[in-house]
Amino acid sequence: LNQYQEVYGKNLYFKRSNDKSSNMSESNKQLQEYYNKIKNCMICPLGETRTNFVFGVGNPNSDIVFVGEAPGKNEDLLGEPFVGRGGKLLDKILDAIDLSRDKVFILNVLKCRPPDNRDPNSKEIEKCEPYLKKQLKIIKPKLIVSLGRISAMTLLRTKESLGNMRNKIHKYENIDLLVTYHPAALLRNPNLKSAAWEDFKFIRKEYLDGK
Ligand code: URA
Repeated sequence: LNQYQEVYGKNLYFKRSNDKSSNMSESNKQLQEYYNKIKNCMICPLGETRTNFVFGVGNPNSDIVFVGEAPGKNEDLLGEPFVGRGGKLLDKILDAIDLSRDKVFILNVLKCRPPDNRDPNSKEIEKCEPYLKKQLKIIKPKLIVSLGRISAMTLLRTKESLGNMRNKIHKYENIDLLVTYHPAALLRNPNLKSAAWEDFKFIRKEYLDGK
């Protein structure tokens, strides 16, 4: 304390912990409890065919949540979203804007893999979407990034093309929502990468710079 006073004078300044960091362990606990509550879900038939219930991973206090469509084969086997080739690309993109999967939260609209990776159907979405809503209530992000058309169409209740949904700030549960390409689409069509990079630069500028 004496040393501090020599350098900074008599007035002491404490950094006030912001609300988010002081709530850190609380959201962590709540997410863990919620996971335990829903992990054995059998409400829809996908419960019978899944290997793992894929709850989501990351920082329970993140300002940004990425939402994909549903687990694929690798995700079903490992119990974690976006762990295949698309996931590796997502990791690289996150790294390019100084993020990583442990700094953000990554989840899917559906928690269980649809057989043969078919699109989620409306019954499955209806049963699973409340889980996503509750996760968002606990995490309280400032931004949701919908990865791909299926995730965006589901959350925004629209059939618009991905091109029409990009470059706009939408709202989901009163949270800003941006739409960008699914990593698998970027792998299939590398020409889309520059547009996706614009989306991620926008995210960095509007939601990360100065943080
Ligand atoms: N595609 C998705 O939408 N989510 C995953 O977790 C994996 C692939």
